[in-house]
Amino acid sequence: MTAGQKPSDLSFEIAPYRGPRLLIRHLFELAEDSSSALDDYMGEGEILVASDGKMVLGHIQIITLSDSSPSAASEIKNMAVVERWQGKGIGSRLISAAIGAARSAGSSTLLVATAAADTGNLRFYQKQGFRLRSVERDAFTEASGYPDPIVIDGIELLDRVWLDRPI
Ligand SMILES: CC(C)(COP(=O)(O)OP(=O)(O)OC[C@H]1O[C@@H](n2cnc3c(N)ncnc32)[C@H](O)[C@@H]1OP(=O)(O)O)[C@@H](O)C(=O)NCCC(=O)NCCS
Repeated sequence: MTAGQKPSDLSFEIAPYRGPRLLIRHLFELAEDSSSALDDYMGEGEILVASDGKMVLGHIQIITLSDSSPSAASEIKNMAVVERWQGKGIGSRLISAAIGAARSAGSSTLLVATAAADTGNLRFYQKQGFRLRSVERDAFTEASGYPDPIVIDGIELLDRVWLDRPI
């Protein structure tokens, strides 16, 4: 596959990732500015990857939440698509696969958190059927590993937005 291909030419498969997670840390880093936070959660849950048979084009990490009674919930903890392959439908397919995995784990709700400053992500998740759930103010502090200041599209990274959808 080459960067010039049209989205309709894209051929990729989504499958569980069983390799060393360190090998795909660069993908996690596209979605996570705190390396200490990443160290803490990178080993958790299940990872699905989109691959064209030669390279990994994107990933999604799903964890089952243990404190989510009465109905079970899973969370998309981290997801990213390699920059040159973004905007071609890979992220949407990863979300569909994550919904399948979360259902299989017995969850009826899927949660995700993103930065309020990242309006592109807010658009992406809402297009995938997620709705706003809550806001965690001042979640991205220097103390929690986020260097100060981080600015996304002219908006300072401060607040975390939680979204969810039934699955
Ligand atoms: C967010 C991300 C995973 C989406 O994956 P993708 O493969 O680019 O998404 P898709 O091509 O399936 O896009 C689906 C829809 O969402 C839109 N969308 C995706 N990313 C967007 C962005 N950053 N800004 C605006 N719209 C976006 C697409 O335009 C498309 O809408 P359309 O149908 O109107 O064209 C990818 O952009 C990415 O890796 N971003 C960097 C890492 C990141 O921020 N991860 C999320 C952390 S919470």
